Formats: sequence, structure tokens, C-alpha cells
Amino acid sequence: MKIAICSDHAGVEYKTKLISYLLGKGYEVLNFGTDSTVSMDYPDVAHPMAAAIEAGEADLGIALCGTGNGMSMTLNHHPGIRAAVAWNVAIGRLAKEHNNANVLVMPARFISYQMAVSIVRAWLTADFAGGRHQRRIDKIPL
Ligand code: RB5
Repeated sequence: MKIAICSDHAGVEYKTKLISYLLGKGYEVLNFGTDSTVSMDYPDVAHPMAAAIEAGEADLGIALCGTGNGMSMTLNHHPGIRAAVAWNVAIGRLAKEHNNANVLVMPARFISYQMAVSIVRAWLTADFAGGRHQRRIDKIPL
């Protein structure tokens, strides 16, 4: 399982720690940056990460910015991406069970690192429920 990951300057600290966490759990990780705390623009890393997932270069993605909003708005412009913002464990689990989100977005400035790890774990271990949820997903594209 290969996981792509990206953040802006607001999420870089959690991203760096999450990379170690994921590698420790045996995942392959593709890091799209940023790797600096210098202020930068989240689309500059979100678009390349989304394109890589759409191209099959990674199975899933994780994105972090301050609120989660900028990343999710950018990522969801890509037809092959369903990016869900989660700020607690239940929302992270439901992002997979109900929305089959292939990218998990977290608001680094509003959750603890421990919460971020718990959300990642819940999302990665949950299974898509299908059924009525697939029907709803099928209605998302315009
Ligand atoms: C950066 O200051 C902040 O705007 C960004 O991390 C994110 O919250 C945008 O949606």
C-alpha cells in the first residue's frame, strides 16, 4: 500500500511525524512536500499529489493544512479524488465507510498530533460500506 502525503507550512510538522509513523507501520510513502515551515501555497503541493493518485502512482493520500479547507477545495477539483476533511476519529472512519475518501485531509492547526494519528488509523483500517453510499458517490460528478 503506497500512501501519498502533502502539506503546506501549517501542516509540515504533523506531516513529517506522520511519514515516520506510516513507514513504521510498513506503508510506502510518497512525500510531495512542503518540507519547510516557510509560508507557501497549498495548491502547489495538492495538485501534484492528486495527479499522482489519479495516475495510480499511490493508492491513497493524506493532506494537511491549517484548516483543511484549502487542501480539500483544491484536491476535489480532480475527478479521481474524493478528499474528506476529518477532525475526529468518527469522521475519519466515516470518510472511508460512507464516502470512500481516497484522500484524508486534516486541519493541523485545530487538532493535536495524537488526534491526527488516531484519525489516520481509523481511516486506513475502515472499509467502504458500498450499497446506498456507492449510489450517492455515483451522483457526485456534475
Ligand atoms: C495558511 O495560513 C492557511 O491559510 C492554510 O494552511 C489553510 O488553512 C488554508 O485553507
